[in-house]
Amino acid sequence: MLKAELVHQINRLKKERGAIILGHNYMEPALYHTVPDVVGDSLELARKVAETDADPIIFCGVRFMAETAKILNPERTVLLPAAKAGCSLAASITAEDVRELKRRFPGVPVVTYINTYADVKAECDVVCTSGNAAKIVRALDADTVIFVPDEYLAGNIARDMGWPIAFPDQLEDGAKDFKGLIGWRGRCEVHEKFTPDDIAGVRKQFPDVVVLAHPECSPAVVDASDFSGSTSAMIRYVKESPAPHYLLMTECAMGDNIAAANPDRDMLRLCSVRCPHMNEITLQDVLRALKHNERVIEVPEDIRLRAKKSLDRMLELS
Ligand code: 13P
Ligand code: SF4
Repeated sequence: MLKAELVHQINRLKKERGAIILGHNYMEPALYHTVPDVVGDSLELARKVAETDADPIIFCGVRFMAETAKILNPERTVLLPAAKAGCSLAASITAEDVRELKRRFPGVPVVTYINTYADVKAECDVVCTSGNAAKIVRALDADTVIFVPDEYLAGNIARDMGWPIAFPDQLEDGAKDFKGLIGWRGRCEVHEKFTPDDIAGVRKQFPDVVVLAHPECSPAVVDASDFSGSTSAMIRYVKESPAPHYLLMTECAMGDNIAAANPDRDMLRLCSVRCPHMNEITLQDVLRALKHNERVIEVPEDIRLRAKKSLDRMLELS
């Protein structure tokens, strides 16, 4: 009852203000299935936000996603309903770290996962998401690429491309003798918790289970699973395939969202791993954001322009 009342107030105010609400696939079910005009993975939300002319834009996701919306829509008000809503990957690298990588490995193109802040994107050549990472790396047509900040996503791409991966502490300056992916040791604090043993335990109990792993999981976990893809790719997979049981190696609200939309699918609940940052966004916060214009996301113009180049390049290449 409480949530239904909040949803009603949010949807009424959203209409009055001409706002658009975007929701990442990790929002909790009562929010995910009610107030967003658009839900999706990082790539779908970035594409959608590049097209919208609604104002304000309320971003139900984490800060780097709201920043992306602002980079693409400087003239509109972008609101993040939570105070911090960080991300362990975005916190794992600074703009100065990227400048140092470019000093050490001059001329090597730099790809950044979208899970970084605007000043880091501004230092890189192109952005990618979990939905297009290998495609973007291939499109650069280079034999060595720096990929930051997700160590595991980089490992999964390198394996898919048949490339070796090395980290800056393993390479001489210039990396003259190395061809492949130069990674960074950032990790998602949620996906790093899953292990191949988790999968083996569930397969023992449910031999016909289909296991889906987000590519932020370790390469060993992805290898032990049946499918790997972005959050939306996993949702589509469950919707379209008729397996008796599914196990998701990702943030656990998403399993609840899929279960609510597909009552005939059996989602196994191994998961108790909620992303603490996504979890900061509540219906109460969304209502407060709409009522009081909180919290306004700003990106300094010089950084915004350079970050936009990297994002535009991704949107063109994908
Ligand atoms: P997606 O782009 O696959 O939605 O992933 C975003 C994210 O933060 C996953 O942890
Ligand atoms: Fe960041 Fe991991 Fe949370 Fe995604 S799930 S927002 S990568 S901490």
